[in-house]
Amino acid sequence: MSPYAHITGWGMAVPERVMTNDDLAKLVDTSDEWIQSRTGIQQRHIASDEESTASLAVQASLNALEVAGLHPNDLNLIICSTSSPEHIFPATACLVQDRIGATNAGAFDLLAACTGFIFALNMGAQAIRSGSVRNVLVIGAETLSRLVDWTDRNTCVLFGDGAGAFVLQAGPQRSGVLSAVMRSDGSGGDLLNLPAGGSRLPASEETVKQRLHYIQMNGREVFRFATRVMAQATEQVVQAANLTLQDIDLIVPHQANQRIIEASLRSLKISMDRCVINLERYGNTSTASIPIATCEAIQNGRLKAGDKVVFVGFGAGLTWGAALVQWGGPFPGVRQVLPFRFRLYARFRSLARRILRRLDALVLGRYREDL
Ligand code: ACO
Repeated sequence: MSPYAHITGWGMAVPERVMTNDDLAKLVDTSDEWIQSRTGIQQRHIASDEESTASLAVQASLNALEVAGLHPNDLNLIICSTSSPEHIFPATACLVQDRIGATNAGAFDLLAACTGFIFALNMGAQAIRSGSVRNVLVIGAETLSRLVDWTDRNTCVLFGDGAGAFVLQAGPQRSGVLSAVMRSDGSGGDLLNLPAGGSRLPASEETVKQRLHYIQMNGREVFRFATRVMAQATEQVVQAANLTLQDIDLIVPHQANQRIIEASLRSLKISMDRCVINLERYGNTSTASIPIATCEAIQNGRLKAGDKVVFVGFGAGLTWGAALVQWGGPFPGVRQVLPFRFRLYARFRSLARRILRRLDALVLGRYREDL
């Protein structure tokens, strides 16, 4: 029997700095009334100069490992879903691997925009189902504030920064991730994109002048697409697990826009009290929005062991998808772990490895040969 992927740990991290709608109204021609009535958003968290996608991801990951009672070196795989990586390469997941000291894990990034966390969750779960790994860290982390054009009111009011992480562990009982749906339609890629900075349009004076290094979006078309696919993916994922919508205790949708969520639930005939919404405080944190909303649902007692929950999202690509999870909790007999120690140990380990690499090159003369 293939093992199931149980979610045994969860964590989130958001920057301290809060930007309200009134703060935004000082930057662009907008108002608190417009933003709230069109999106439901009241405020968002924005990374400071010292924070970045990796630093938020590390904090969320350590919190998740603490809940699961797992050491970083117990991890076999780290998948970091992000559209705002630290660099094009190395992968942000590798930076996280180094900073938490996950010495036995392979690490890679996954890009499916706001649907990324669902895709990453499913990939982590399938790796466990195949029997090739036992412990996986799945992260959704963003600092889209770095990619937003702060002079464009169509986009800058929507996004916020943050990170969320789940620990997945192999277990024999039929629980955890029960089904998933992943879909894409690249023909809509131009509806939401960041045109320059990749191999197609490398950075140049011209791309900077034309403001092509910022997010561009056709809001109305994305809205229409989103309301259609959110309901569709929810129905499909429930069907794939041989369940009905009545069996679902909670829906945690991607937190992009309150009106999109309401329209999707209306067409599914699901009442809002079975749905988690926290976008009023965080805005759209893209791939981080579902794990952040999940952490808050657990904290507020809305998601309990045994509940069946649907995660559903959409995003650039275009991409959309859903995952159906029977919620569990940490495995019994969880060890107490101290995350700040991991970080300290990882810092020393990383430094020692850098020094050893340099010494090795010097002693063996590779350094001079390479020159
Ligand atoms: N403040 C004031 N007015 C604004 C603002 C603003 N911040 N933004 C746009 N407007 C104006 C527009 O210019 C437009 O004016 P016009 O009619 O004179 O041209 C007017 O408001 C209405 O614009 P609409 O686009 O019709 O507004 P709508 O009700 O559709 O709301 C919104 C816009 C909020 C962007 C909505 O379309 C939406 O949420 N779309 C989905 C976006 C989304 O979810 N994106 C994230 C995808 S996930 C990912 O992968 C990152």
